[in-house]
Amino acid sequence: MPIKDTKETPISYDINLPYDTGNGGISAKAKHSKYAQYFPTWDKVWFDPLPPFEYDDPALRVGDTSLPGLLTEGVKVTHIQPILGSVVEGVQLGRLSDAAKDELAYLISTRKVVVFPDQDLIDAGPDRQEEFMRYFGKPNYQPVSGSIKGHPAFHVIHRDGNKGEIDRFLQQRTTTTLWHQDVSYEIQPPGYVLLGILQGPDVGGDTIFAAADAAYKRLSPRFRSLLDNLEAVHSSTKMINHVRATGGLVRKDPVDTVHPLVRVHPVTGERCLFLNGEFITHFEGLKDPEAKVLMDFLLHHIITGHDFQARIKWSPRALVMFDNRSTIHSASVDYFDDEQGAQPRHVFRLCAMAEKPIPVHEFRE
Ligand code: SIN
Repeated sequence: MPIKDTKETPISYDINLPYDTGNGGISAKAKHSKYAQYFPTWDKVWFDPLPPFEYDDPALRVGDTSLPGLLTEGVKVTHIQPILGSVVEGVQLGRLSDAAKDELAYLISTRKVVVFPDQDLIDAGPDRQEEFMRYFGKPNYQPVSGSIKGHPAFHVIHRDGNKGEIDRFLQQRTTTTLWHQDVSYEIQPPGYVLLGILQGPDVGGDTIFAAADAAYKRLSPRFRSLLDNLEAVHSSTKMINHVRATGGLVRKDPVDTVHPLVRVHPVTGERCLFLNGEFITHFEGLKDPEAKVLMDFLLHHIITGHDFQARIKWSPRALVMFDNRSTIHSASVDYFDDEQGAQPRHVFRLCAMAEKPIPVHEFRE
């Protein structure tokens, strides 16, 4: 039984709906973007389900956890919050050796979200960016959203003066935040995720992350042991139905997967709450009112836990890498006003699909 009302509430802002990025649909400010190649396109391609695959987390190959190949002399690491979030200056992601990429995976596993300002890789083109991310896991092909022509692994978040769209969204919601894990409905959901900013507002458009292991640890031992044994169904059905109902393009059948509510991180061994309000439809074996109370409580706990959250401020040519297994995140669409609508914000996302979430009872140190 669904946790949420099944009426046609938007699953996300309508960035999933095709729009004209030719002369008609794009503002003068965005039109002059040097990243026009990254404007979203909606190619009519079809993707079969991702077959199961063996996943070797590159972080598990790291021997020296001082990360000498990545954090070389002159590299500056500034923590955003004690338990998650760092800014690393003096590293160019596009120039890392494989051993340094293993260390990068370890850094992301332990810091959860890491910002790399002023990256040459931003200008290296989609092929190089995809190749970089393939090191960390298999690509995900977007079932509905806009992508780059010929590069369906790119999820493109392009917002350009579309205040009407945000107004529509806010008719049903009280905030633009939408906390989620990326693509959680897949059998092997993303582990490491790359976000790159191509164009952004002068101020605003931050991305906020919460640590799902810290959120778990704050709960009482007795409540944690109840959660350790629960499973949730994550589904892309509602998103796909919404896109179909509103005239969008669908490239993949819906996926429904049962995942543990608490997953163990393969690198840190930490137990992480794996839940979000966007894709979970129900908890196995719970009645509707029980599921609703549980979901509302856990989401409220995570969303209001500012002491285990980090707010990422974007700077020009920044790349952000985060761990989708131990965090939950939301963009903040605060960069619009009544006269001008949203200012252009253009971000790409590449996901690296990882292990099937490990339930507590299966984890061996
Ligand atoms: C995402 O939700 O995956 C993207 C976050 C952002 O737009 O900052």
